[in-house]
Amino acid sequence: MEATCASIADYAARAQATLPAAIRDYLDAGSGAGRTRLANTADFDRIPLMPRPLSDVRGGHTRTELFGRSLAHPFLLAPIAYQRLFHPQGEVGTAMAAEAQQSTMIVSSLASLPLAEIAATGVDWWFQLYWQAGLDATLRLLRKAEEAGAEAIVFTVDAPVKQATLALPAGVRAVNLDSDSALPAIPDERSAVFDRWMAIAPRWDDLAWLRQQTRLPLLVKGLLHEADALRAIGLGCDGLIVSNHGGRVIDGTPTALTALQRLRKVLPASTLLLFDSGIRSGDHAFKAIALGATAVLVGRPAMWGLAAAGPLGVAHVLRLLRDELEMTMALTGCATIDAIHAGCEPFANDE
Ligand code: FNR
Repeated sequence: MEATCASIADYAARAQATLPAAIRDYLDAGSGAGRTRLANTADFDRIPLMPRPLSDVRGGHTRTELFGRSLAHPFLLAPIAYQRLFHPQGEVGTAMAAEAQQSTMIVSSLASLPLAEIAATGVDWWFQLYWQAGLDATLRLLRKAEEAGAEAIVFTVDAPVKQATLALPAGVRAVNLDSDSALPAIPDERSAVFDRWMAIAPRWDDLAWLRQQTRLPLLVKGLLHEADALRAIGLGCDGLIVSNHGGRVIDGTPTALTALQRLRKVLPASTLLLFDSGIRSGDHAFKAIALGATAVLVGRPAMWGLAAAGPLGVAHVLRLLRDELEMTMALTGCATIDAIHAGCEPFANDE
């Protein structure tokens, strides 16, 4: 790999120059005018960090713990559909990188390679579940993931209407699903939204049912409203991934960082919150952790790495983020992730 990629921005530029326009747009676009996508990242940059020189941070580290497992650092790979769009090695390439960098990969329901091949890399992986048309099909997919060795289930609930559509090239499809097109046929006068998409979207009863179907940790991804978050935790879910899907579903939602702050206020301190949407550097991750996340997921940056340089690119993106996080911790006087949580007063004012 050429030595010129020294930041996430470099990988973004390289990927954008490499990918065909339609695939680049599919990866980068937000929905609508893209306001939420841009605001997610801009929100981090509004928060100033306060340097704390002379702190003793010798022996510092980025280790943290999730579901009883020790993680070397708090960066996970967000679920991203159809990764063979970005590189021929697709999800297997991403998994090899995650394994090499001691990260956890969340594998999408819309993965373009079989779960068994991804698992065979030896990576620690979780499975991201999209609701299928009905209980039976959903249960079949869940069992397939459990049998292949998923260590947790992430149930994504915020994208029942898929707007980012792309005509998939030949040979790229969701190979782990029974069928790609499960939408019911409806007469012309009925609503495509209410009578097709929402007819097969999950509802609260389905979440309660799902909780009963698996002993694996279950996280819900994409709830932003306080009442919804409380309800999901009340149903026995093990945590939430605070996310607005990288701004790809509704344009104009609260930024993910705003939602994190609101949810942290109403949920018990013991509720596990992970975070994604907008993270582009280690200091962004630092801020999300300081504001209440235990760990963070990165979406597009990992795919920029994959498109630009295959598995090595993904591994380097993870390494860059980790190095940047360490630097931010050291300069703000936080030797450990726990110290960030415990409020080492990293912010210059109370925004
Ligand atoms: C996604 N995301 C996503 N989420 C999910 O639960 N299942 C999926 O299959 C996908 N697929 C997908 C494809 C592409 C091209 C993108 C960019 C995103 C959302 C993803 O998991 C995550 O929430 C966002 O990407 C996080 O935002 P950043 O890091 O990309 O800003």
